[in-house]
Amino acid sequence: MSAAETETDDFGNWLARQRGALSHVRLAADASTFGRVERVADGVARISGLPDVALDETVRFASGATGYVRTLDTELASVVLLDGAQGVEAGERVERTGAVLHVPVGENLLGRVIDPLGRPLDGGEPLAADQWLPVERPAPAIVERAAVSEPLETGVLIVDALFAIGRGQRELIIGDRATGKTSLAVDAIVNQRASDVICVYVAVGQRATAVQRVIDAARERGAPQRCVFVVAPPSASPGMQWIAPFAGFSVAEYFRDRGQHALVVIDDLSKHAATHRELALLTGEPPGREAYPGDIFYLHARLLERAAKLSPELGGGSLSALPIAETDVGNLSAYIPTNLISITDGQLVMDAALFASNQRPAVNVGLSVSRVGGKAQAPALRRVAGQLWLDYAQFLELEMFTRFGGLTDARVNAQIVRGERIRALLAQPRFSALGMRDQATLLAALADGVFDAAPVAVAAQIRARVAQQHAQASTNHSDDEAVASVAGLREWVRALMPDVAPGDEPGKERG
Ligand SMILES: Nc1ncnc2c1ncn2[C@@H]1O[C@H](COP(=O)(O)OP(=O)(O)OP(=O)(O)O)[C@@H](O)[C@H]1O
Ligand SMILES: [Mg+2]
Repeated sequence: MSAAETETDDFGNWLARQRGALSHVRLAADASTFGRVERVADGVARISGLPDVALDETVRFASGATGYVRTLDTELASVVLLDGAQGVEAGERVERTGAVLHVPVGENLLGRVIDPLGRPLDGGEPLAADQWLPVERPAPAIVERAAVSEPLETGVLIVDALFAIGRGQRELIIGDRATGKTSLAVDAIVNQRASDVICVYVAVGQRATAVQRVIDAARERGAPQRCVFVVAPPSASPGMQWIAPFAGFSVAEYFRDRGQHALVVIDDLSKHAATHRELALLTGEPPGREAYPGDIFYLHARLLERAAKLSPELGGGSLSALPIAETDVGNLSAYIPTNLISITDGQLVMDAALFASNQRPAVNVGLSVSRVGGKAQAPALRRVAGQLWLDYAQFLELEMFTRFGGLTDARVNAQIVRGERIRALLAQPRFSALGMRDQATLLAALADGVFDAAPVAVAAQIRARVAQQHAQASTNHSDDEAVASVAGLREWVRALMPDVAPGDEPGKERG
């Protein structure tokens, strides 16, 4: 074989190889459009040159930042920046992604602290998500829903007895600054230790120390392996804070749609409303009442409508929501509070005056309401709760009349004695959850007059002891053993007041 022949062979082989490799390559012009950043400020970029971009679509900037399209104009689109907002500059190239915002969801999120885009904030490994869901998802249709029928136990007597919450319900926690709103929600989360409910806590613009306290409480006292924390700190871009509640709902919906039960706490929607207003003003939407844009009601309605109890055909899962809202000097008739009150199925109004007088949880019984949970309340509790409601309401009224030494007869006196003991029972420190049966027993004992003869403080002592017993029982997983009985409580009361003779007049000792 000559040298020339070998060379020809080599070339022939090479050519065949290259032909094979190139046969998969499709030779066609690939058109992709790039936009350009015209202006950027305060977490919002105006971009030009993307005529086909869709509302809510995510776009990628050359600097690596991402954002989503919030408003479209004939010339410019407004993009809300999510991460890397500081790096974006005018003149930069922008690229469409063709997708709306998604968050990772699934079992792997349980126990984790994530940002609204699903990136870990707890220093742990990146999430290997089972699935991604859009942050904006439609609420279940009417035919897909069932009536709220199972209780969501918070372990807080005043809530479970007087304002029972059902699975699938949306109950607003509303009140002034530092009135125990977050604490009440955290108590509800911690109490799910003994249930099968998965909790998602969404922090929107909350101080890092406050968020840390919530996470620590859940880790130390609750079931952290069934909690997800979605955190958008105040330092995050407005866009991140805006999507946080929506992302939290998507994370919880994953469980709802598989027939499980989930609870979302949003702390808080007032901050979310302020972020929405900020973005609306930055993107040039016309301001309405209190400078909020006109779509603020729709925004929160479409968010909270996603909480639902699903029909048995869809697995019967549920998603309950405890949104939190802040009021200014107790003003419930401001724009955002009235909106949220009308969207939700009831509200727990936290009263600054009650809080200051150490009546905690500072739930204002007159202004609070739960519109659907009563149907889901345990029958034993419902039976005693009705009487409690009447007695307490009467007492609050009588107390006002008798405060200045008004006329009191024996009957009024007895009502006041009873009322003071109700109030002592309803005050409940944090992390001292009561089981449903214990609550029913305590209230039955109360109605039986077990506490009437003892000093007011005894009622609180007994409640604390029952709570302690409940905590021990639920750590040992033997709930049935430790349930209190009315007779048992009577014994405890007697043991706590050895000095009081049996015939002593009830109510002699007050306070
Ligand atoms: N049931 C309770 N018993 C005793 N202390 C309570 C109770 N509930 C709340 N507190 C205390 O009240 C303080 C304020 O509570 P919390 O932070 O929950 O209020 P908040 O309304 O969420 O406040 P902010 O407006 O700052 O978010 C905390 O120090 C908390 O420990
Ligand atoms: Mg708070």
